[in-house]
Amino acid sequence: MPLPPRRPSHTKQGQRTGPATGRKAPQSKDRGWDPVAAWYDKLVGEAGSDYHQNVILPATLRMLAIQAGEAVMDVCCGQGVLVRPLLEGGIGRFTGVDASRRLIESAKSRHGVDPRVGWVVADACLPGPWADGSYDAATCIMAVHDVPDIAGMFSNIFRALKPGGRAVMVFMHPCFRIPRKTHWGWDGDQKIQYRRLDSYGTPLEIPITTHPGKGTGEQTHFHHRPLADLLTTIGQSGLAVVACDELYSHRRSQGTGPFSKAEHFAAGEFPMFIALKAVKI
Ligand SMILES: C[S@@+](CC[C@H](N)C(=O)[O-])C[C@H]1O[C@@H](n2cnc3c(N)ncnc32)[C@H](O)[C@@H]1O
Repeated sequence: MPLPPRRPSHTKQGQRTGPATGRKAPQSKDRGWDPVAAWYDKLVGEAGSDYHQNVILPATLRMLAIQAGEAVMDVCCGQGVLVRPLLEGGIGRFTGVDASRRLIESAKSRHGVDPRVGWVVADACLPGPWADGSYDAATCIMAVHDVPDIAGMFSNIFRALKPGGRAVMVFMHPCFRIPRKTHWGWDGDQKIQYRRLDSYGTPLEIPITTHPGKGTGEQTHFHHRPLADLLTTIGQSGLAVVACDELYSHRRSQGTGPFSKAEHFAAGEFPMFIALKAVKI
């Protein structure tokens, strides 16, 4: 059955830019992650951020179920937070791919020279020789919402994998965590902390100021897409989703007052990240 036509793309504030209005699409102001590389490298550090350590990396490794000697590609690898746990898990070869030259430089200096490890500076959305069909598994951690063209990226992940190879993607949950569009709210009558969702169905490009306090205006761009768009694009690339996990923050309010209790409850009810495992068919 033919798939329905894809919706026209949108930019920030939901402004239509596709053929529906006939308006010329504005140029994206996205300058990539090089300008924020030093900040991100410090944030993630040697072992990963608090969320990497407690939620994201354990879920990734659980879903990936690495076998000794496997070849793994990490797409949008940043400064290489996955290298160490994967090598400790016994993989035989690791390749990290990222568009930010500075983050790849950080990865190299953090992880030294290891004959099992290679790094590539490349746009994950464009075809490249690095996606060569020689990998048992691929990962894409906290970056699905950072790339402008997920169809291009998932096609490359497909190309990178051997037949039957698996891919694990972990990213912000598109139903509950959309910058500027989802918020916590407090219902004092019912003593409930609720999640407010201002929009969801419109794909959006949302500028993120990485350290607003400094006033330096460095921005990255978050691409919100509804879950159906994400899953359909993954399927169209030839990857079949075989598992899904919804990951909750490990942080819990420890207070005993009604607000703390409600906060504690809500943290266990609204997932922060989604993890998908897909197989090359
Ligand atoms: C939030 S960081 C995540 C990095 C790493 N996976 C981690 O968990 O620490 C997003 C990464 O996506 C990379 N990225 C964004 N767009 C990209 C593209 N088109 N091609 C390759 N990498 C890209 C950025 O350079 C950045 O390293």
